[in-house]
This record gives sequence, C-alpha cells and structure tokens, in this order.
Amino acid sequence: MSSSPPESGVSEQSQTVGAHAPGARPMVEAVDLVREYRMGEQRVRALDGLNLTLQARQFVSIVGPSGAGKSTLLHVLGALDVPDSGSIVVDGLDLGSLSEEQQSEFRRHRVGFIFQFFNLIPTMSAWENVALPRLLDGKSLRSAKSEAIALLERVGLGDREKHRPSELSGGQMQRVAIARSLIMSPRIVLADEPTGNLDSHTGESILELLTEVSREGDGRLVVMVTHDNKAAAHADRTITVRDGKIEE
Ligand SMILES: Nc1ncnc2c1ncn2[C@@H]1O[C@H](COP(=O)(O)OP(=O)(O)OP(=O)(O)O)[C@@H](O)[C@H]1O
Ligand SMILES: [Mg+2]
Repeated sequence: MSSSPPESGVSEQSQTVGAHAPGARPMVEAVDLVREYRMGEQRVRALDGLNLTLQARQFVSIVGPSGAGKSTLLHVLGALDVPDSGSIVVDGLDLGSLSEEQQSEFRRHRVGFIFQFFNLIPTMSAWENVALPRLLDGKSLRSAKSEAIALLERVGLGDREKHRPSELSGGQMQRVAIARSLIMSPRIVLADEPTGNLDSHTGESILELLTEVSREGDGRLVVMVTHDNKAAAHADRTITVRDGKIEE
C-alpha cells in the first residue's frame, strides 16, 4: 500500500475529476450497474442496468416496490456490496477499482450509514456509540468523547449522553445513530428506512434532521430509502427504483 496517499488511503480517479471545477462533479455517477444474486438454480437481478447521477448538497429519497433493488443500490453506493458489472463512482472514487482494504477505508471515512433498527451497541452509552468509529480510527478517548458529545448536542441529545440504547426512545436512538453516522464527517450519508420504526411525529423530526445534515459539511449528499411517500416528500429529489432500474 506504499502508493496510497495519506488520510483515506484511496486515490482520486483523475479521469472523473478532469475538466470539472471543484465541487461541480456529481457526487454519485452510476452507469449500467448490474448486481445478480444466485440462489442455487435461481438468479435474481437486483440491479439490472441501473444509471444514476446524484449531486452533492442534496437530500435524495429512493422509493419503489419491495424487492425493487433499493437496499442493494444503497449497499453498492456505500461499498457494502460490489456490482457484477457497470461502473460506480462516488465522490470521485471508482469503487470498482478499489482493493478490499480501500473499500473498507472508503466506508469508514467517506460514508455514514443509518439503519431502520438503529444498530446501536446495547452495552454502550450514547456517547460511546457515537465515539466508536473515531476510536476505531485511532483517535484518543478524550477527543473522540468531546466530538461525540458535541454531535449529541447537535442532534438534540445533550442531556442523554450517558444513557444506554435501552434507556432511550426510538427517535432518540435514531438521533444517536445519526450522530454516529456523522462523526467521521462523511461526504455521503446513506439511510435505509430511517423512519420505518418510528411514529409519524418522531419520523418528521428525523427527516428534518436529515435535511439539515444534507446542508452541512462540504457539499454532503444524503440518500434515504423509504416506503413512505410522506417521508420521501421531504427530499429535494425523489427517485423510483423498479425491477432494478431507475424510473423517474
Ligand atoms: N443477499 C441476497 N441474496 C440473494 N438475493 C438477494 C440478496 N439481497 C437481495 N436479494 C434479492 O434482490 C432483490 C432486491 O432486493 P433489495 O433488498 O434490494 O430490495 P428492496 O427494494 O430493498 O426491498 P424492500 O423494500 O423490501 O426492502 C430481491 O428480489 C431480493 O430477494
Ligand atoms: Mg430494502
């Protein structure tokens, strides 16, 4: 890995940066993405030649029927899954050309993940859950803790930092998960059904928070998968996925 640059350990793809002014290039450029799952004899094309361009500083929602390929798309955007063919460039990085180690660097440094069931560690306090990605990245406990507490204040949980997940409401747990997703200052935040387990009032406040998150940072993109048309309406742009393709 001696050729890797410092910081993230992943290199920019100069051909995609090219002639664009800084910040003008799309945050996501997916071309002809195919992801096929094989289960014995059966083949399912979760992504079937999908094309998509997304700009930074946007809150984008992805809707579509169950099984359409929404979660698969989100996983490919976050380098949790790799397409069988096609190209996917996120924040100037061609994800298909990254080694496994570089993919892991990409996930840790450039992507924040938010899930329907929060995925918090039950034995850890709110601030410890938020600080964990920073600690795993080698930061000192003291600075990771102060960053985590600042983020908990940012999401309205300054008075819940020592609570464990079981001592928080669903909406509060999702706020902790959002704070955790932001601690590495990601360029892209990916949320799969973030309001799916919340009542509509609590869900609204989470959607407002995600809107704010998309306006922060140095041109951040928030992509949310949802079944709920009212939730989707909070976004700047709504994309429908059907049979593994975009239908706008
Ligand atoms: N790991 C896997 N192995 C086999 N098939 C899979 C796998 N993951 C997804 N699939 C299949 O790929 C298709 C797309 O799945 P995906 O999870 O992306 O759908 P979705 O749009 O997120 O659906 P939902 O709204 O129900 O969450 C489905 O037919 C699913 O059964
Ligand atoms: Mg899904």
